[in-house]
Amino acid sequence: MTADATDRWLPDEGIADFASAYPGESAPVRHRLQHHPLFALDALADLAARLPASHVEHSRGDQSVSQDPGAVRQEALPPAEIVRTIAINGCWMVLKKVDADPAYAALIDQCLAEIAPTVSRETGAYMRREAFIFLSAPNSVTPFHMDPEHNILLQIAGQKTMRVYPAGDFEIVPQEVHEAFHLGGRHRNMPHRDAYDAKARDFVMHAGDAVYVPVKAPHWVQNGPEPSISFSITWRSALSDREARLHRFNAGLRKLGATPSTPGAAPLLDDVKVAAHKGTKKATALARKVLGKERDRSAY
Ligand SMILES: [Fe+2]
Repeated sequence: MTADATDRWLPDEGIADFASAYPGESAPVRHRLQHHPLFALDALADLAARLPASHVEHSRGDQSVSQDPGAVRQEALPPAEIVRTIAINGCWMVLKKVDADPAYAALIDQCLAEIAPTVSRETGAYMRREAFIFLSAPNSVTPFHMDPEHNILLQIAGQKTMRVYPAGDFEIVPQEVHEAFHLGGRHRNMPHRDAYDAKARDFVMHAGDAVYVPVKAPHWVQNGPEPSISFSITWRSALSDREARLHRFNAGLRKLGATPSTPGAAPLLDDVKVAAHKGTKKATALARKVLGKERDRSAY
C-alpha cells in the first residue's frame, strides 16, 4: 500500500480487520466512503435513471425475515423517483452491477486495490467483480438469504443491523439447498428458524461502518428508523468457484440417485469432484466446438 493513508477509502484498521477475517469469517470493517459525492441522493437518482431496467430491482420494504417470495409487492414508480423519495415511499431497492458505470467503476477499482494484497494472498486473483447499491425505506427488512460472492457491505447513510450466520453450516442451510442454489431457478429468500440465531453475529452499522460477508454466509437485514443507503462490493475467487463446482457436481450425483458426501468431510474426494466438474465442462465445450465444425463442413 503506497498511497498516503488519508487518500484511501479503507483506513489501516479497516484493512487489518478485513485481513484477519478473510476469506471465511465475517468481520466489521471501517470505511470513509460515506461522504463521497457518488452516493448523494441526486447522483444515485441519475444512476438509477440511466442503468438498464435489468439492473434495477425494487419492492415494498415491509417484508418479513421468512418472506414468501410469491407475496412480494412492488410500487409503480420510476427508478429515479424511488431513489428521490426513499425516505417516505416504503420501498427497498437495489441498483445492480453499478461497476458498468465508468464513474462508479473507478471507485470500485480503488477500493479493491486497497484490499488486493490480502485477497491475492488468500484466494488468488479477483474473479467476476460486481458492485451493488441498496436503498431502503425506514424499518425495511431484507429477508434471510445467501449470496454467491465475497462481499464488503459499506453503510453510507442511515443505520441497519445485519445478522450474519456462519457459511457452510449445513444445519442452517442444508446441502440440497446449496446444490439447488447453484443450479438456479430458486427465489433467493430462504426459510428462517429462530434456533439458527444462537450461531449468528449481529453487526450494527452506521455511516462509516462496513461488514465483510464470506461467500454464502446466510444473513438478513433490519433497517433502522432512517432511510438507508449501502454500497456492496463483491468478487468471486478460486475458492468460491471451487465451492460452486463441488455443489453442482453433487447435484448431478443426487439426480442419479446417489447421496453425495458432505463437502469438507472427504477433501480428496472433493478435489476429484471439482476436477471432474471442470473436465466435464471442458469436454462439453470441446464437443460443442467439434459439432459446430461438423455442421460448418456439411454446409459446404
Ligand atoms: Fe445479501
